[in-house]
Amino acid sequence: MCGIVAYIGKKEAYPILIKGLKRLEYRGYDSAGISLVNQGLKVYKCKGKVSDLEGFAAGKDISGSVGIGHTRWATHGEPNDVNAHPHFSGNENLAIIHNGIIENYDSLKKELIQRGHTFKSDTDTEVLIHLIEDVQANENLPLAEAVRVALTQVIGAYAIAVLDKNDPEVIIGAKKGSPMVVGLGKDEYFLASDATPIVEYTKDVVYLEDEQIVELRPGHEIKIRNIENEVLTPYIQELELHLEALEKGGYEHFMLKEIFEQPKSIADSMRGRFHVESSDVSLGGIIDYEQKMATAKRIIIVACGTSWHAGLVGEYLIEDLARIPVEVEYASEFRYRNPIVHEDDVVIAISQSGETADTLAALELAKSKGATIIGVCNVVGSSISRITDAGSYTHAGPEIGVASTKAFTSQVTVLLLMALRLAHKKGAIPESRFQRILAALEKIPQQVEETLKSAALVEHISAEYKDARNFLYLGRGYNFPVALEGALKLKEISYIHAEGYPAAEMKHGPIALIDEEMPVVVIATSKGSYEKVISNIQEVKARKGKIIVVVTKGDKTAAELADHVIEIPETEEELVPILASVPLQLLSYYIAVMRGCNVDQPRNLAKSVTVE
Ligand code: M6R
Repeated sequence: MCGIVAYIGKKEAYPILIKGLKRLEYRGYDSAGISLVNQGLKVYKCKGKVSDLEGFAAGKDISGSVGIGHTRWATHGEPNDVNAHPHFSGNENLAIIHNGIIENYDSLKKELIQRGHTFKSDTDTEVLIHLIEDVQANENLPLAEAVRVALTQVIGAYAIAVLDKNDPEVIIGAKKGSPMVVGLGKDEYFLASDATPIVEYTKDVVYLEDEQIVELRPGHEIKIRNIENEVLTPYIQELELHLEALEKGGYEHFMLKEIFEQPKSIADSMRGRFHVESSDVSLGGIIDYEQKMATAKRIIIVACGTSWHAGLVGEYLIEDLARIPVEVEYASEFRYRNPIVHEDDVVIAISQSGETADTLAALELAKSKGATIIGVCNVVGSSISRITDAGSYTHAGPEIGVASTKAFTSQVTVLLLMALRLAHKKGAIPESRFQRILAALEKIPQQVEETLKSAALVEHISAEYKDARNFLYLGRGYNFPVALEGALKLKEISYIHAEGYPAAEMKHGPIALIDEEMPVVVIATSKGSYEKVISNIQEVKARKGKIIVVVTKGDKTAAELADHVIEIPETEEELVPILASVPLQLLSYYIAVMRGCNVDQPRNLAKSVTVE
């Protein structure tokens, strides 16, 4: 969690930092702050969003061409002005920003207190900058070396940037477990949690690896060392990110833009990966591991949140098409429950950000047990994509709204392609079925476009239910994960309690909740267990629940029972989750807007959860 950005060069740092922080605000927005080298070190910080920081800094001296900035998602210490970053060292010669958690901060703090340090905040970060100060003073070391030595004493995760009043021409960065990318401009350097604050200034970047320390001095080459003090050669990469992808492009919210981008993002996820005519699917990233995957005794999918829901769809797809047993695990549970993992297991991690701490840790565990690890990530160069043996990017483009939308449909698309590839390789499905699904897949972007035309209808339905206190989402088979995902979307952005359930499970408990106050969203598309879902709808109707159905175009039976009907185009059963999730995304979006919620930055959440 938290976003960090830094600039050193000849330009004014403040506007670059503020713009960068706005791009990183998806990572947390409890507080924001900057530090500028300007006849000493200035720190401006406050509780709230980057716009609050701008208000706070207005009229103050914000000049200077060296600076660091931070937007926080609170872990240690409540979100307030004092706990906001940057933090000063005790002598106020150093300032730090930090993303991550220093796990042994308490013992370090006690030692530092014994050595005379006093602390202003409750944060682990302040402990780290005091430790650096302590090392610097006691061992008389330059900043880069003091940072390195201090970090040898630290347990935990960090991406940090440090300024030194007495050496104003340098920024020191370091990372372990939290992402950090350095931008290389002409006589200037940038440093950030991801490339979004950097892309408009330079395309040349270096992604730091864990336990690397970088020294950025304009006019000098970038210097990277590892924690053992070995000098490393930087690997400079060219960014493939475009600025337009980071703007709202006329939409009121990023979430709405991202929902409407899905015809393109799904097309991008499948581009060049299948050919209907030659009846062929190929995923370049996993080509060398296909055999291993196809013959695996078991595939374990690990993920969190929306990506976990995509994993559930993946389970149904891989088992149904490729006939390989699949288990889907919450990464946070998997990593701590001493799971049985064999060397012939294949573990697939699904993650939009590629930075989710629990997913990363689950993968590391699986790797340590000798399993083959495969990634399905959206962010290119992310931590998960770098530790996996192989993987397929989803290519959905940057997703900025905290609620995941286009990333989900792209994950499902890639998992379907993976399942088809494995099925083909194993000869597990008849050619006719393989071809039918490919032909249906080719039509999906256009059908998503068609589905999006229901936006006005969904907005109208939203107005009727915006004040509901609870929602139930029901689906069976491939539509069960869609129900879970629909409920999660509503919860996270509109703060209405919502439950997703397998439709048949309703009678084992949740049916007790149903009365005339309860809106029940049922995904009742024509294939799979359609008749059984109709019976479930009858059960809701008999108890006077309000029924909103998502049905296949032209459906009469479910439509007649329901209070509201949203149609999606007909497709193969395996592809329904992609189409059916779109109106549910719209429903949560419009309800949240009508309730006056901050759709792109819902309370207490952050886009990528890089802490446990
Ligand atoms: O970046 P990841 O896909 O690993 O993130 C996993 C979850 O944190 C994420 O899907 C979260 O549940 C979203 N806010 C859901 O919209």
